[in-house]
Amino acid sequence: MANENRILPQHIAIIMDGNGRWAKNRGLPRSAGHIAGAKTFKSIARYCNKIGLKYLTVYAFSTENWKRPEDEVNGIMNLLRDYLKDAENFKDENIRVRFIGDRTPLADDIKALMAKNEEDSKNATGLTLYIAINYGGRDEIVKAVKKIVNSGVKADDINEKLISDSLYTYDCPDPDFIIRPSGEYRLSNYLIWQSAYSEFWYSDILWPDFKEKDLEKAIDDFSNRNRRFGGI
Ligand code: FPP
Repeated sequence: MANENRILPQHIAIIMDGNGRWAKNRGLPRSAGHIAGAKTFKSIARYCNKIGLKYLTVYAFSTENWKRPEDEVNGIMNLLRDYLKDAENFKDENIRVRFIGDRTPLADDIKALMAKNEEDSKNATGLTLYIAINYGGRDEIVKAVKKIVNSGVKADDINEKLISDSLYTYDCPDPDFIIRPSGEYRLSNYLIWQSAYSEFWYSDILWPDFKEKDLEKAIDDFSNRNRRFGGI
């Protein structure tokens, strides 16, 4: 049951961590953890839309995740494929889907499905769901700097707004709240520019076990934070 006095963040970003350990604890292959993680992702995204959240960003695949065994990478890409083919489900729910990250090395069919999902959902007015795929915060900043330099802008005209406007997230407010389950306390190259003033929430829950009630608990905690943005 949602606390009536809670303050809903405008933008929640989640690091969906702990799939591998969830599977290991059950004597299952890591792929089973990612399958369970994808289910959790779908139900949490739906729930965020239901409660009126404006922006949700999830970390599905980082620029570093290519280091994993090939079959694990393929498994995650197949889950993404299935999700994108199934995105019809999200149409009725008025969710706008966007992707952040470098698409260049992705398979052509995935790139096409991503573009179709973005196009098909572009007029949705509910939750905007950003899925980070082949995303890395440092890579994003390097690409932004290249774009700025190539535009010929004078050094004196470079400011924070220009950098923000040159990132993948140019049309999205910075995340107010970053959630990382699974007992890890790091940002792992996620939204490193955008998280300058984000509130963080950590928990030992492994991502496949993360439920709507856990999100509510996190939002309750967020409601009690005293955000000063460097002021007093
Ligand atoms: C981190 O857990 C999780 C990932 C690197 C993959 C996340 C992918 C999904 C949740 C499914 C696919 C997403 C979509 C959008 C359909 P880990 O494997 O690092 O867990 P561990 O730290 O316990 O090993």
